Amino acid sequence: MSKRLRTTLALIAAGAAAGSLTLFMAPSADAATTLGASAAASGRYFGTAVAANKLSDSTYVGILNREFNSVTPENEMKIDATEPQQNQFTFTNADRIVNHAAAQGMKVRGHTLAWHSQQPGWMQSMEGSALRSAMLNHVTRVATYYKGKVVTWDVVNEAFADSGGGRRDSNLQRTGNDWIEAAFRAARAADPGAKLCYNDYNIDNWTWAKTQAVYTMVRDFKSRGVPIDCVGLQSHFNSGSPYPGNYRTTLESFAALGVDVQITELDIEGSGQTQATTYGNVVKDCLAVARCNGITVWGIRDSDSWRASGTPLLFDGSGNKKAAYTATLDALNGGTTPPTTPPTTPPTTPPTTPPTSPPPTGTGCSATVTLNSWNTGFTATVRVTAGATQVNGWAVTLTLPSGAAVTNTWNAQNTGTTGAVRFANVSYNGRISAGSSTEFGFQGTGTGPTATPTCVAS
Ligand code: XIL
Repeated sequence: MSKRLRTTLALIAAGAAAGSLTLFMAPSADAATTLGASAAASGRYFGTAVAANKLSDSTYVGILNREFNSVTPENEMKIDATEPQQNQFTFTNADRIVNHAAAQGMKVRGHTLAWHSQQPGWMQSMEGSALRSAMLNHVTRVATYYKGKVVTWDVVNEAFADSGGGRRDSNLQRTGNDWIEAAFRAARAADPGAKLCYNDYNIDNWTWAKTQAVYTMVRDFKSRGVPIDCVGLQSHFNSGSPYPGNYRTTLESFAALGVDVQITELDIEGSGQTQATTYGNVVKDCLAVARCNGITVWGIRDSDSWRASGTPLLFDGSGNKKAAYTATLDALNGGTTPPTTPPTTPPTTPPTTPPTSPPPTGTGCSATVTLNSWNTGFTATVRVTAGATQVNGWAVTLTLPSGAAVTNTWNAQNTGTTGAVRFANVSYNGRISAGSSTEFGFQGTGTGPTATPTCVAS
C-alpha cells in the first residue's frame, strides 16, 4: 500500500469516527457545468440575445452552443426588420437565428411585435385607425409565421413612461389606450400556443411608479381575461438604474397575479466581484420565485453588448468566463425551488395511513413573520406551518401598528388593511401537510407588525 493511500484511508477513518465525511465529499454530482444545463436542472432556461451577423464568428457560436438553451434575436424580429415596407415581410435574418436554435434544441423568445421604437419609416409616419390596423396586421402576420417556433413573444415592449406611472406617449398609444390589449388578443388568435409577455425596463424596483403602473395593468388584464401569460423584466442595471434590494418582491408580486416572470435582457454594468455578486443575487432572486422560469442575458461577450463600454456581460471580449459567469453558475446550481405553477386544485390522494394518535388540541398551525422595512414601508413574508396534523385551510391574524396599512398581498387573501388584519389561504395553498409550511406575503406603508401572529387552522 502506498504511503499516500494509507494516509488517505487514515483520514477517512478519522472523519468517519468523528461522524463527518464532509472533507471527502466530491462536488455534488448533479451540479451542472453550463448555464443552460444548470438552469434546466430546476426547469428553467438560460438564454442570450443573439445577432444573426455573428453566427459566423466561431468563438461566439462556440459559447452560444455550449452555454445557452434559449435565444432572443437582438434586432432581427423587430418591426423595422420584419416589415420594412408595409405588407412586405422579411424573415431571412430572424430565420437564421431560429434555424440555429432549432438545430441546437434551443428555445426562441420572440422580440418584439409592437413597440414605439425601431419602427420602419412607413409606420413612424402613421397615426390613428390606419396605424392600429397596421399594427394588428403586423402582430398577426409575424406571430402566424412563427407559430410553433417561437415559444414566448414579447408582444408589447416599453409602453410605460419612465416616471409618473402613466403610459408613454407614442403613435401607438395615441391610437387609444386599449392598443396593448388589442395587440395581445391578436397575438393569442394568431398563435394560441405561444406564451405572451409584456416586456419593459425600470420595472425592477417595486417602489417605482413605473413598476406599480405595469403591475396595475397586468392585474387588470388578468381580471378581465385579456390573454397575458408573463411579464418580462429587461433588467438593464447600471448606476442610474441599480439592482434593487426589493427585486425579489417585484418578481413575487407579479407572479402572484398568476403570470410567469422572466428576466429578459439582463446586463449589469461594472466589473470584478461587485458585478459578480449582483449577478448572483439576481439569479438567486429568480430561483426563489417558482414562476420566475427563465433568464436571458443581453449578449454573450462584453464586446457584443449594446452597452459594451460598461462591460456588463458574463464573458470578456475574448470569450473568457468572467467572475460574473462563475457567480451566475454557482447561483444556478444552488437553486432548489422548482418552477411549478401552484396547483389550482388540491391533490386528490388521501393520506394512506390514518393518524395513529388523536389530533392535538389547539390551533393546529403557527406563523412567523420576516420583515423587510424601509423608511416609509415594509414587506412581510409570513411562514405558515402546520402542526402534527394536516390543515386544510388557515387564517393568520396580524396586528399592524397605528399608521400602518396593507397595500398589496400575495398568496393569501386579506380582510381589512389596518389594525388586526386577517390573511386567509387562497385556493392553492390551504392544504399543508403535517409539519410542512407555506409562505405568503404582503406589502404595507408605515411600520410593519411586531406582535406575534396568531394562526387558526380549519
Ligand atoms: C437594443 C439592441 O441591443 C441594439 O443592438 C439596438 O441598436 C437597439 O436595441 N430594450 C429592448 C431591446 O427591448 O430591444 C434593446 O435592444 C435594448 C433595450
